[in-house]
Amino acid sequence: MEIGKKPRKFPLANLFLSSLPSPSSSSMAILLVLIYAFFSSSTTAFSAFAPFVPQDNFLIDSGADKLATLPDGRVFKTEGQSKQFLLAKDDIKVSVEKADVPSPVYLSARIFVQEATYSFPLTRPGWHWVRLHFYPLDNDQFDLMKATFSVNTDKYVLLHSFNMNNSSKYVLKEYLFNVTEPLFSIKFVPMKNSAAFINAIEVVSAPDDLITDVANELSPVGDFSGLSTYAYQTAYRLNMGGPLITSGNDTLGRTWLPDESYLKSTNLAKSVSVATSIVKYPEGITPQIAPQAVYASAVEMADAQVSQPNFNVTWNFEAESAFGYLIRLHFCDIVSKALNSLYFNVYINGKMAISDLDLSHTLNGLAMAYYKDIVVNASLMSNGLSVQIGPSKLGSGDLNAILNGLEVLKLSNSVNSLDGEFGVNGDRVANGSTRHTVAAVGFAMMFGAFIGLGAMVIKWHKRPQDWQKRNSFSSWLLPLHAGDTSFMTSKNSLGSQKSNFYSSTLGLGRYFSFAELQEATKNFDSNAVIGVGGFGNVYLGEIDDGTQVAVKRGNPQSEQGITEFQTEIQMLSKLRHRHLVSLIGYCDENSEMILVYEYMSNGPFRDHLYGKDLPPLSWKQRLEICIGAARGLHYLHTGTAQGIIHRDVKTTNILLDENFTAKVADFGLSKDAPMGQGHVSTAVKGSFGYLDPEYFRRQQLTDKSDVYSFGVVLLEALCARPAINPALPREQVNLADWAMQWKRKGLLDKIIDPLLVGSINPESMKKFAEASEKCLAEHGVDRPTMGDVLWNLEYALQLQEAFSQGKEEDETKSSATVPASPAVVDTPPTPTSDSRPVSNPEQNNSTPAQVQAIDEHSGTAMFAQFANLNGR
Ligand SMILES: *[C@@H]1O[C@H](CO)[C@@H](O)[C@H](O)[C@H]1NC(C)=O
Ligand SMILES: *[C@@H]1O[C@H](CO)[C@@H](O)[C@H](O)[C@H]1NC(C)=O
Repeated sequence: MEIGKKPRKFPLANLFLSSLPSPSSSSMAILLVLIYAFFSSSTTAFSAFAPFVPQDNFLIDSGADKLATLPDGRVFKTEGQSKQFLLAKDDIKVSVEKADVPSPVYLSARIFVQEATYSFPLTRPGWHWVRLHFYPLDNDQFDLMKATFSVNTDKYVLLHSFNMNNSSKYVLKEYLFNVTEPLFSIKFVPMKNSAAFINAIEVVSAPDDLITDVANELSPVGDFSGLSTYAYQTAYRLNMGGPLITSGNDTLGRTWLPDESYLKSTNLAKSVSVATSIVKYPEGITPQIAPQAVYASAVEMADAQVSQPNFNVTWNFEAESAFGYLIRLHFCDIVSKALNSLYFNVYINGKMAISDLDLSHTLNGLAMAYYKDIVVNASLMSNGLSVQIGPSKLGSGDLNAILNGLEVLKLSNSVNSLDGEFGVNGDRVANGSTRHTVAAVGFAMMFGAFIGLGAMVIKWHKRPQDWQKRNSFSSWLLPLHAGDTSFMTSKNSLGSQKSNFYSSTLGLGRYFSFAELQEATKNFDSNAVIGVGGFGNVYLGEIDDGTQVAVKRGNPQSEQGITEFQTEIQMLSKLRHRHLVSLIGYCDENSEMILVYEYMSNGPFRDHLYGKDLPPLSWKQRLEICIGAARGLHYLHTGTAQGIIHRDVKTTNILLDENFTAKVADFGLSKDAPMGQGHVSTAVKGSFGYLDPEYFRRQQLTDKSDVYSFGVVLLEALCARPAINPALPREQVNLADWAMQWKRKGLLDKIIDPLLVGSINPESMKKFAEASEKCLAEHGVDRPTMGDVLWNLEYALQLQEAFSQGKEEDETKSSATVPASPAVVDTPPTPTSDSRPVSNPEQNNSTPAQVQAIDEHSGTAMFAQFANLNGR
C-alpha cells in the first residue's frame, strides 16, 4: 500500500521473469483432481468461516509509552514491552499528543541515527505480512520529513534511500515474505548524516495458501511457477465499486481502497453491489483470499443496457518499470440474472489477460467468489499498469464486464530487492541475470543471517524464551500441522467434478459409522483429546474389542486442514508398512471427515530425547528407533511405483508405539514424486531447522530433501537437543551447523547427550555421525539414499551390540581383565557438560551400562523389554 508517496521509476527493463525454469506442476494437478473428486461429495458450502488466527503476531508501537489499541481492535506493544526485539545504539523516542492520523500507532516513533535491527523469533515458516508504518511527526530531535534511510531484512531490500519526500502524510508499506528461517530481522540503516525512523511494525503470519506457486503469465502466455520464491510489496489493493474496507473488516488485516480515483473515465463505469451475505465461497476460496465485502460490490460497464456497448472500463496505475508485478483479479458475478449470460475479456497493459471469462460456467453458480493471478513481466511495465475490462467479442449473452477487486503486488527482483536495483549485499541487477544464480546468492545470505545477527542472538539468549514452549508439540499422537511449525500447500481448485469416489476399492480401510466413533470417543469428549490442530482434534478412542485408536476429526471450517486431510487419506491409503503409522479406517457420514489411526502410545520420538523429562533412551534404543524411521522413509521413497517424498521429516513426526517401534507419521505434507523428473517444483514447506538448503534454493523437492531432514533427526538423537534453539548462543542455534562444526574438528563427542557418555561405543557413534554428515551434504546428489543410510545405521547398531556384549563379558569375568575384543573401546570420553546429570556415575559396577541406565528409570514395560533384549 502506498499512501502519500509516488513510486519512483527505474528505467532498467529486467527480463528475468522469462528465464525461469518451466513449471512442473502437472503431477500435482493430477493428484489434486483426484483428491477433489474424492471428497467433493462430503464438503459443504461454508457459510461461516472461523477468523484467521496468525501464529506469529508481532505488533509493535515503536517509541510508545502506553498501549495503542487500533480501531480494528488490535493492541500494539509499547516500547517497554518490545525492548527485547530491538537492538539499537540510540535511544531516541519521540511522540505527539495528537495528529491527523487514522491510528494511534502514528503518534510515537523511534529515531535511529545509527543502524538498528528488530528481530523476531517466529514459530512457523511460511508467508508473513510485514507492515511498516511511517509518520514524520513533529519533534525537537530530527526533521523526519527529511530523514533518508534504507530498510532491509537479512535477504531483501524493502526500502532503498527512502524518505517522506517532504510530505507530512503517514505512509503504510505492506510486504509479504515467505520466511524459511526462525529469526526474522528488519534493519533500519540511516543515510550518512541522516536518520531512520519507524512508528510501528507488524510481523504477522499469513495463510499458507494465500499465494500459491503458480499463476498465469501475461506474456509470453503460459504458466508462471515459483511465486513462493519471491517477496512482495503491496502496491494497490482495491475494492471495485464499493467502500473502503478497513483492516478490522478483513480477517487478514488488509485495507481495500475504493477504486474510483484510478478509473480512466468514470462515466464509462458503474458501481453495483449486493448484500455481502449473498456472496458464496466455492471450495478452495475463503475470506482469507478476500472478504465478502470485496466480492459484494463491482464495477460494471456503464450503459451496459444499451444495445451495442463497445468500450472498455479502464483503470490506470503508476508502477515501477524495473519490477514484475503479480496482479490478482477478484470476480463475483453479482450482475447476471441467469447462468451463462455474462462473458467478458480482461486486458492488462493492452494484452489479453483473460478472454471470454464465463464466471457462472467456471463456478457453476452466480455470486460465487473467484480470483485469478496474472504475472506481468517487468518488460511490459514501461508505461505503468493498466487494467481493462470489456465485452467479449463472442457477441452472445449480455454485453457487460465486471471487476470486483484488484490487488497489485510488486515482485522482488533478481537481487532480492523491492526497491531499487541493489541487493542487501550490494549486488546490482544485471541484465539477463538468471533467477538461479540469484537464488543461490539469496540462499548464501540467508545462511549468513545468523552470523550477522551476532549480538542480537546473545540478547535472545538472555531472555527466557517462550519459543520452546510454543514450538514444543502438544500433540503426542499425530503431529498436527497447524499447531506445529510445519504446514503444507493448499491449492485452489474450482469446478471440480461432483462425484463420489469413496469405495473400498481405494483401500481406505474400514468404514466407521459416525455413531460408532461417537461411542469410541465418548461423544468426542474433550477429555479424550490428545492433539489439536488446524483441521480439528485428535481423540483417543476405543473400538469393539477394546483396541485403542486415534480418531482425527476434521474441522470443516478449516480449508487448509481439509486439503491436508485429503492428502493424508490419499497417501496413507496407498501405504502399508510396519514403520509407517497405519490408517485403520475413516468416516464420512454427515459431511464428517474422520480418520482412524493406530494409536501410538509412546508419542513422538522427540519427547523421549529432551524437553519432557521422560526416562532417557539408551543408545541402542535410539539406534533402533532411527533404523525403524529410516525403514519407513526408505519404503516411502522406493516402495511405491512413483515414490513419495515425506517433506516434513522431524522427530515429532516419528512416533513410538507401546514397544517403542518407530513409525513415520504425518503425510499431510507428502507429495508424489513425479516419475522420470526426479523432483517436484513447489513452495518451500517443512519445518525450521530441518529444511534442505537445496530445496529452498531451487524449489525442487526430491527424496534427498527427506534425507537431509533425516540427518538432522540423527543429530537430535545423538545430542538430545532441538534442531533449532534460538535461546542458545548464535553458533549453537542451528543443530546441523553446530554439530557439523564439531564433527569436522573430530570432537563431536564433546556435544553428545551427556546421558550417553560412557554407554555409547565411540565406533558406533562415529559411524552414526558419518551417516548424519552425509545426509547433510550441501547438494542432494552427494547425499546417500535412505537405503544407504539404513545400512550405515544397522552397522552402527552392530558395533554398539558388540560393544555392550564385550562389556558384559568383561564385567562378568572380572573387573581386572583386559578387554578381549579390539572392537571394544572401553575408555569412556570425559563428560564435557556439567549442565545435565551424567549418567552412570558408578560405571564400573557389575551391571552392564545400558541396562543400568534403563534400571534407573524402571517402571515401564518397555524398559523391561529392552533390558531383556540387551541380555539375550
Ligand atoms: C465493517 O465492519 C463494521 C462493523 O462490523 C460494519 O458496520 C461496516 O459496515 C463494515 N464495513 C464494510 C465495508 O464491510
Ligand atoms: C479494449 O482494450 C483492448 C486492449 O487495450 C483493445 O485491444 C480493445 O480493442 C478494446 N476494446 C474496445 C471495445 O475498445
